[in-house]
Amino acid sequence: MRGLAVVLAAVAGPLCAQQSPGFAEVGALFAERCVICHSGADAPLGLHLDTLAGVLKGSENGPVIVAGDGASALLQRLRGEAEPQMPLDGPPFLDPAQIAMVEAWVMAGMPGGDVALGPAPERKRPAPGEPVLWPDVEPIFLKACIKCHSDNSKLGAPPEGLRLDSLEAVLKGGDRLVVLPGNPEMSEVWRRITGLADPRMPFDGPPWLPEEDIRLIRDWIAQGAPDAAGAKAPIPAGARIRLRGILTGAAEIDGAAFVIDDGTRVDDRPRIGDEAEMRGVVQPDGSVRAERFRDR
Ligand code: HEC
Ligand code: HEC
Repeated sequence: MRGLAVVLAAVAGPLCAQQSPGFAEVGALFAERCVICHSGADAPLGLHLDTLAGVLKGSENGPVIVAGDGASALLQRLRGEAEPQMPLDGPPFLDPAQIAMVEAWVMAGMPGGDVALGPAPERKRPAPGEPVLWPDVEPIFLKACIKCHSDNSKLGAPPEGLRLDSLEAVLKGGDRLVVLPGNPEMSEVWRRITGLADPRMPFDGPPWLPEEDIRLIRDWIAQGAPDAAGAKAPIPAGARIRLRGILTGAAEIDGAAFVIDDGTRVDDRPRIGDEAEMRGVVQPDGSVRAERFRDR
């Protein structure tokens, strides 16, 4: 029997070492895949995954991991047994080896290891008048919008075909354009987060977005919806736009001006102060030409 014990120890030794990662490994994985959302004052459900203390504390619903419990809420989210699956911006989700590592860490009682990861550095918010780039607004979309507006949507499919999980998706829009670079008033994203257009977003609010987030998104659109390098988005000539709101000028809804010409089909021409709807097409110069204009 002595021989067997030696063999077992030899097998179990390296296996154990391999199966009990410390928070250095788990934290590095979380930093890569989770922390863009699960950090800062607006971390979803108050769950901070950028420090060991935050991971152990859990969310506003309580702990998300329990030592030795393979059915812990966090593990269920990684395996897709609880929805929406995490990371929320997947697919791709974690691969089986990565999930196994987090499982092994939980089964081993969440050892801290010798590395203490500090809280994720918060990106400095641009002050009013400063340039606002995509990375300044990206976390707002990721934290507040993509649980519905992505392929991982808890509604099944993203509503109105609208995905908001990448710069390309935000600029492309869904069934119609939602960001017209340079023109926040004409951008349904801004209209929805302010409540100018119904239903107000996020759809599961209140709470609505903080004033500061609304300002950042407005400034980002007004500055031409620049990418991380500061390059403005191209004008989406030919894209379709729909506006429903209050007529504030002869050809203006809620402050968003458009062009009415001989080609515009006008039904029940609305008067200023009336509820109106405009369906139009973006022109190469960024203006919007109305194809249909009517009272609602
Ligand atoms: C793109 C943003 C984003 C990323 C990345 C992300 N999450 Fe989440 N997570 C959320 C949001 C939003 C919710 C709340 C979903 C809801 O309201 O149903 C959430 C919820 C959770 C919950 C549920 C908490 C509870 O109280 O039930 C867990 C656990 C979780 N996330 C773990 C993770 C882990 C682990 C990762 C990385 C592997 C991760 N998340 C990556 C946005 C994200
Ligand atoms: C809980 C799910 C949910 C969340 C979270 C959510 N939305 Fe929505 N969104 C919807 C639904 C449902 C609709 C369709 C509503 C309708 O018009 O009837 C919609 C519609 C929209 C539209 C209109 C699209 C169009 O083509 O007219 C925009 C723009 C929008 N959402 C932006 C956002 C933004 C920005 C956020 C985050 C700040 C957000 N949504 C968060 C569910 C959600």
